[in-house]
Amino acid sequence: MKNPLDSLGQTILAGVVIAVILALLANALHIDANWWAFFFRWLHVLSAVMWIGLLWYFNFVQAVNMPKVPADQRPTIIKHILPDALFWFRWAALSTVVTGLILAWLNNYIGNALALGFLADVPKDRAIGIGMWLGLIMAFNVWFIIWPNQQKVMGLVEVPADQRPKAARMAGVTSRFNTMLSVPMLYFMVSAQNIF
Ligand code: HEM
Repeated sequence: MKNPLDSLGQTILAGVVIAVILALLANALHIDANWWAFFFRWLHVLSAVMWIGLLWYFNFVQAVNMPKVPADQRPTIIKHILPDALFWFRWAALSTVVTGLILAWLNNYIGNALALGFLADVPKDRAIGIGMWLGLIMAFNVWFIIWPNQQKVMGLVEVPADQRPKAARMAGVTSRFNTMLSVPMLYFMVSAQNIF
């Protein structure tokens, strides 16, 4: 039998199967309305871990070490690593937003949260609303600033050569800005279940 760990797809599938078996054994798989809210929360946290994991990889590892890579070797990273990293990064950002909005809707506070608690004075709605708007700003930055500029850096979008360093700078600064926002955003995301 082939080792499922030799294939990324089979590894993830095996992870889902193990999750179902353990949830059944732990009597933690009651599929009702409550479970669906939990299920989208789980999908939300899975997507968020992929998104923020790659954001922090770009900022704590790649951006810090790229200047140490000899110039003639940098195209290898841009050609072979960056496309996949940006693929999972931007689609995880979209998945985080979609599952987050569904979660807020299933929790019956999407309107008041996005209105930052100004429709009804509920402190929890205001807190998660602040987190949601920070997350939405970060997702906007990914799709409308970082990704378009990275496409120029990778040569997927043709631009004059002198514009590539400018595009790299814009993508780098915006990614650093998102790293800054990730700290208060996570504070408010986790606060919803813990301080209200
Ligand atoms: C990078 C972005 C994001 C990360 C890392 C993130 C992470 C998290 C985490 C860790 C939780 C707590 C889960 C728990 O306590 O069980 C959470 C809850 C939540 N997130 Fe996000 N999130 C992000 C963006 C968003 C966005 C953009 C939205 C919606 C627009 C959103 C909506 C929610 C909602 C509604 C909850 C449930 C709050 C509650 O407990 O009632 N999140 N998120």
